[in-house]
Amino acid sequence: MIDPQIVKTADGSDTIYLPELDETYHSIFGAVQEANHIFIENGLKFIKKNSITVLEIGFGTGLNALLTAKYAIENDLKIEFITIEKFPLANELLVQLSYANHSNPDEMLFRKIHDAEWEKPTIINSYFSVQKIKGDILNPDFEINKEIDIIFFDAFAPSKQGEIWDEKVFKLLYQYLNMDGILVTYSSAGIVKRALRTSGFNVKRLIGPPGKHHILLASKL
Ligand SMILES: C[S@@+](CC[C@H](N)C(=O)[O-])C[C@H]1O[C@@H](n2cnc3c(N)ncnc32)[C@H](O)[C@@H]1O
Repeated sequence: MIDPQIVKTADGSDTIYLPELDETYHSIFGAVQEANHIFIENGLKFIKKNSITVLEIGFGTGLNALLTAKYAIENDLKIEFITIEKFPLANELLVQLSYANHSNPDEMLFRKIHDAEWEKPTIINSYFSVQKIKGDILNPDFEINKEIDIIFFDAFAPSKQGEIWDEKVFKLLYQYLNMDGILVTYSSAGIVKRALRTSGFNVKRLIGPPGKHHILLASKL
């Protein structure tokens, strides 16, 4: 196995490249730019509540968790962030990411999110808490007892990991969501739209970040 590598993306932010899968964790056009556009600007911002529960599929580098924590602080919200990850990245790699650098203003927040014990709901500050669950969304042996307002579906691409973009998974996620809940994802592939629709979701295409034409917003209503 070749070790994962840290690579710089076009907006100057870091991501991770997995040689084994020939896949990056974010768009090479800009990791922070992409994550902000999809999950914050076209996801979280649509939830008009002061207290929000997020479920993420694929914790990865923790970048989405970091951006969500910042959003909670900036907007004076209470956000509970539950995230599922099958293959947690090694800490030695995570601390080399630019987000964990002393010169980065988000360093402390990023480190606190990563220092949180797996499985245990952990308060990071008065705006944000995180529960990182080591688990497999294809064979879930964990329970989600919370009603979820928004799902960040951030698995590897359908071309690399087709089995996860599947009706079986989307039907399960549909059950976790509140009646007015939504799911956002970066892939607008035909198979993804169809699997979401057959799982009960209403699906809309939204404009994507640089390098991507469209993203998907799926809702129950
Ligand atoms: C595109 S990356 C996620 C990027 C991440 N959200 C971030 O902010 O860095 C996809 C993630 O899904 C995880 N993953 C792959 N298969 C999974 C599965 N069956 N269940 C849960 N997570 C899985 C990978 O290990 C990887 O961390």
